[in-house]
Amino acid sequence: MAVHDTEEAGGPLTQPAGHRHPHHPPDPHGRPRIGIVGAGRVGTALGLAFSRAGWPVTAVATRDTERRARFVALVPAARAFASPPQLVDEVEVVFLCVPDDAIGAVAAELRLFSGQALVHTSGALPAELLAPARAAGSSIASFHPLLAVADPRRAVEDLRGATVALEGDEALIPMLATLAEAIGAQPVRIPPGGKLAYHAAAMLAAGGLIGLLDGLAEVARGAGLDERGALAIYGPLMRQSLTNAESLGIGPALTGPLARGDAGTVAAHLDALRRLAPGTLGLYRAVAEREIALAQREGELSGTAAGSLRALLDGA
Ligand SMILES: NC(=O)c1ccc[n+]([C@@H]2O[C@H](COP(=O)([O-])OP(=O)(O)OC[C@H]3O[C@@H](n4cnc5c(N)ncnc54)[C@H](OP(=O)(O)O)[C@@H]3O)[C@@H](O)[C@H]2O)c1
Repeated sequence: MAVHDTEEAGGPLTQPAGHRHPHHPPDPHGRPRIGIVGAGRVGTALGLAFSRAGWPVTAVATRDTERRARFVALVPAARAFASPPQLVDEVEVVFLCVPDDAIGAVAAELRLFSGQALVHTSGALPAELLAPARAAGSSIASFHPLLAVADPRRAVEDLRGATVALEGDEALIPMLATLAEAIGAQPVRIPPGGKLAYHAAAMLAAGGLIGLLDGLAEVARGAGLDERGALAIYGPLMRQSLTNAESLGIGPALTGPLARGDAGTVAAHLDALRRLAPGTLGLYRAVAEREIALAQREGELSGTAAGSLRALLDGA
């Protein structure tokens, strides 16, 4: 295992003006050399996934010696460095896989050369955060794998079929889309300014669903069900609703007392929740208001019926 550190890397860290990359002979398949900064969960997972897909991952920069050793054990073709600026001279595409709060500061330490690209992997932040590293002829983008990465080896499998959101310079997107496809993922283009909305929607899909489940389990305790029982009963119903939404659309998939305008049932629910699970009233009300608006848009609920339901919720 060859772990190259600062000294071993050698070579000048500053280049004359107009310096153009790459120095290295081009990859026979025309694929750019990739360097990973930050061999944490995502950096290690992507380095491994890219190299297994046959893309040249030729450098890693990470400060921790154990992380450097682990990365090179998984990706033996990579030269390892202790600091990000040293890596820039080695590759054409730099993946910045450091915590969101560190991306701007690390980018500010880097100076790209013409023909190079800098990419971060945050879901919430825009590519523009990398602008301090820009030089003429370079490009920036973000490449966000939409999955929870805990173990890098496991994540390589999970990347197959996952979505990768791409945002940034137009010229860079086709190469990043090809790279995402090479690791088995589904590339999706996010328009400029769309990152935070994309990430907030992802929060609702993941943590939001779990928050809903937690409220549901509290309500189900009033019916004598424990958490396992609640999941066993309502899990299939939730999956069915998702399947209906995917095949019919969200509006037509809406079912239940709010879609029917069944005010008596809703009043009885609210009464039961007040007694058995008062902490879930806010969640019930928020979801119910959303359902009423949706049922109205679908033409399922008249304005009068919607008004009666809203009045019940307002009194809850
Ligand atoms: N984990 C996920 O599920 C997930 C999913 C999609 C996207 N992301 C995004 O991927 C990026 C990395 O997340 P992660 O979960 O892989 O984080 P992580 O496991 O904490 O790894 C980040 C690595 O960056 C290095 N680092 C930490 N602070 C640094 C600093 N101030 N300056 C330079 N390097 C620093 C650390 O390595 P050294 O100490 O060795 O330098 C660390 O191993 C974030 O932008 C995150 O939003 C995460």
